[in-house]
Amino acid sequence: MMKIAVLVSGGGTNLQAIIDAVREGKITDTEICLVLSNNKNAYALERAEKAGIPALSISPKEYDSRDKFNDAMLEAVRSSEAELVVLAGFLCVIPPKMVEAYPNRIINIHPSLIPSFCGTGYYGLKVHEAALERGVRVSGATVHFVDAGTDTGPIILQKAVEVLDGDTPKDLQLRIMEQAEWKILPEAIQLIVHGRVKTEGRRVIIAED
Ligand code: GAR
Repeated sequence: MMKIAVLVSGGGTNLQAIIDAVREGKITDTEICLVLSNNKNAYALERAEKAGIPALSISPKEYDSRDKFNDAMLEAVRSSEAELVVLAGFLCVIPPKMVEAYPNRIINIHPSLIPSFCGTGYYGLKVHEAALERGVRVSGATVHFVDAGTDTGPIILQKAVEVLDGDTPKDLQLRIMEQAEWKILPEAIQLIVHGRVKTEGRRVIIAED
């Protein structure tokens, strides 16, 4: 059984997709041991409580420095005994100490086809606003390992989603969630838990089933 911690900031639909995938047996041999939010009002925390998963909120506002907040976050993850950390709409920067403590053991879902529309400042709806503004016909989502940069780690899975005429950022966000994010995030977790994901430099090799 692999323990995973899921870090969230908002609505938690990706968290819900993971909870559902565990229930439906699409993710096996996995226990969500902690849901951690930087925002105490995140609806994701309610989703965790409803599913009977330990949920915790740690806000940067409660600490007098970012370093102390980062240490508290790392300590919470450590004491949950998680072996894999899943960023599911977590909008805080992961500190270097945490990246070092969990090398290729932190994954993130990003709502575009990296390397488009990613990096500092690209999160949530802003990603879809930028994609529409640029006029791309295809966008999508990416699951990647977290390294010291922002959205720069090895890419595990990507899925393309069509942009339709007349899309608003919210339309595109929802289509990308439904058609890509809620599928490839649980899929990536299942692959990692079952030892099928290896890295060679920045490239990821996925072993056959
Ligand atoms: C998701 O679209 C996720 O890909 C995005 O925030 C949303 C969270 O939704 N993450 C980023 O933009 C990270 N750079 P959720 O709380 O409903 O899962």
